[in-house]
Amino acid sequence: MKQKAAINPSANWQERSIATDFEGNIVAKIAQEWALITAGTSEDYNTMTASWALMGYLWQKEVAVCFVRPQRHTRTYADKSDFFTITYFDKSDKTRVHKVCGNQSGRDIDKAELAKITPITFGGGIIGFEEAKETIVCKKIYFDDFDPKHFLDGAIGELYEGDYHRFYIGEIVKYYKNSSK
Ligand SMILES: Cc1cc2nc3c(=O)[nH]c(=O)nc-3n(C[C@H](O)[C@H](O)[C@H](O)COP(=O)(O)O)c2cc1C
Repeated sequence: MKQKAAINPSANWQERSIATDFEGNIVAKIAQEWALITAGTSEDYNTMTASWALMGYLWQKEVAVCFVRPQRHTRTYADKSDFFTITYFDKSDKTRVHKVCGNQSGRDIDKAELAKITPITFGGGIIGFEEAKETIVCKKIYFDDFDPKHFLDGAIGELYEGDYHRFYIGEIVKYYKNSSK
C-alpha cells in the first residue's frame, strides 16, 4: 500500500558527525534498540524493523550494513533505491513503532499512519521519521546474497527456509540527530 508522503524535517534535525557524535555501544544498540530500515522516495517508500545490522569501516569509508530477506516489501525498495536510512527511536516510541513496522507489511497497510510516525525527507530519496532520535543515511555501494554453502556454523542454516538475506553495504554519507530527543 502507498504510504503517507514525506514532508521536510523540523529544525530539530541537525547534521552531526558519525565518527564523533554517535553515542552508545553500537553492538548493544543494534541488538536491543532495533532500527527502521527505510528506502524509496518521498512519495513511495517502505520501512521495516531490523535488529540485524553492522557498522564499521571498510574501503576507506564509514559504512553500515543491513540484511533484508527476499519476501520483505522493503526489499523491492532497497533494491531500486540509491540510499537507505537507519533510524533509531527513544525507548518510549520503540514498542509502538516496531510492533507495526516489524510485524506488518507495507504491502497491506500505511505503517507510518498506524505507528503514529511522520515520514520526513532529507532530500534526494532520503527518508526518515520526525519522531526518531537519529538518522544514519547510507549510499548503497555493494550488495550480495548469503550463500548457504558458506555457512560454517550449522546453527545459521536453521534460521532460514531458503530465504537468505540480501545484504547492502552503505557508505554513511550523512548523520542527523534530533535535538528534541
Ligand atoms: C525485532 C525485529 C527485528 C527484525 N529484523 C529483521 C532484519 O534484520 N531483516 C529482515 O529481513 N527482517 C527483519 N524483521 C522482520 C521485518 O521487520 C518484518 O517482516 C516486516 O513486517 C517487513 O515489512 P515489509 O514487508 O513492509 O518490508 C525483524 C522483525 C522484528 C520484530
